[in-house]
Amino acid sequence: MNKKNVWSTRLGFYLVAIGSACGLGNLWRFPVVVGENGGGAFVLLYVMCALLLGLPLLIGELILGRKTGKSIMAGMEALAENPHQKKEREALGLKPPFFRLVGAFAVLLSMAILSYYAVISGWVLHFVIQFLVSFTETANSTTSARLIELMTNGWLQMGLASVHLLLVMIIVLKGVQEGLEKWVGYMMPAFGVLLVILMYKSISLPSGIEALRFLLYPDFSKLNLSSLLSAIGHVCFTLSVGLGTMVTFGSYMREQEHIPTAGFRVTLVDTFVSIFAGLLLFPIVLSASNIPLTDPGLLFEALPRFLLELSGGQVFGLLFFVCLYLATLGASIGLFEMVVSNLQEKFKWNRTRTTWITGLLLLLASAIPALSSSVFKGIRVQGMSLLEILDSFLINLLLPVLALLVALALSYGLSLSEKRSLFVDNHRIESVALFEHWIWILRYLVPTLIVLALALHFLGFLF
Ligand code: PHE
Repeated sequence: MNKKNVWSTRLGFYLVAIGSACGLGNLWRFPVVVGENGGGAFVLLYVMCALLLGLPLLIGELILGRKTGKSIMAGMEALAENPHQKKEREALGLKPPFFRLVGAFAVLLSMAILSYYAVISGWVLHFVIQFLVSFTETANSTTSARLIELMTNGWLQMGLASVHLLLVMIIVLKGVQEGLEKWVGYMMPAFGVLLVILMYKSISLPSGIEALRFLLYPDFSKLNLSSLLSAIGHVCFTLSVGLGTMVTFGSYMREQEHIPTAGFRVTLVDTFVSIFAGLLLFPIVLSASNIPLTDPGLLFEALPRFLLELSGGQVFGLLFFVCLYLATLGASIGLFEMVVSNLQEKFKWNRTRTTWITGLLLLLASAIPALSSSVFKGIRVQGMSLLEILDSFLINLLLPVLALLVALALSYGLSLSEKRSLFVDNHRIESVALFEHWIWILRYLVPTLIVLALALHFLGFLF
């Protein structure tokens, strides 16, 4: 996408932002974290964090992108040089190296997350292929057998992750991603309809009531000392905030767009998709006693098993995994595009060279998560596999720390009047009052929540 290209329609922004936000985070990771943290109380905590932490950060990132017209690294550079509020922020120790560090940290973390995301996208691709093949087979091998085959074959996972990354690279290289992202965006409503149909069928299972109770009835005794940090990490991951993806999208936004409203809509849609995914999966998991509540088990074992029992299940299965794959492709392109545009701005390389270098680095890095259940099977800490360790280190620890730094950079790098001019819309009276709240939340509440969550998490290690 050309930097000067501003989306000509309002829909363009929504399609791409929602396309980036909705992905594996909603359908695969959300049910797992909810399962690990005991259900309803965590869902409540998650929704609160989405509104009080994810949304304010999302608005802040979009404002930074719109204001500077750049990606996060150059955007942070602009904040470091901003003459407004200079004294105030330097008194707090937020000098130019701090802003540069935040930009570089965001790009490095995005690369690490993308190399891990590519492996899980490869799993989705595996199921797309399996459902395709199932039309030609007479006897179906069980989904458990397919999952075991995938989990024990690290080279297969690496191959699939490489295919995924190559596809993302080709799309970014050919510059067709704007068209593709929109296409992915148009398919999202169809995916939404499919999700609702499947959710209805799943809730009609005898375990439906139990699943509703599990998801919606808050039992606070089920929360643990790490739950707040898990909620914050997952909110940042699923809304694509903290990493600067939304800064890049904000730089393409049209002048007329009201940023807070856009941020609110993206948050709302993403949260609903996650809740729907929970409502789809938990009745299935609760009705079958032998489905493991572990990462791959929850979506990749439970869902195919359920689908194959429905009439027309193969078609539903194929449609579901194709839609899921397109959603992960949309999210991966967003992340990849963000890394490429930052490196391009920083090193002044051309696009082809930047794309190849980024792609090759990611291919190498994806070997670690891809081989975690085979070659690196022996590496386990507190019963967690390498993939689970990576997941919690990147998403539950580094991402909240980065979000904290981004909140500080946005609070002290842009002056109140600069932020007001992009937040307040004189035709919307409520935006004046909301502005004061947003400033306060970003400056005090978001950092406090993240520091509290980190403190509680580390306290958990002591007890
Ligand atoms: N939000 C995406 C998901 O839920 C993942 C993602 C994170 C994409 C960060 C871009 C940036 O799957």
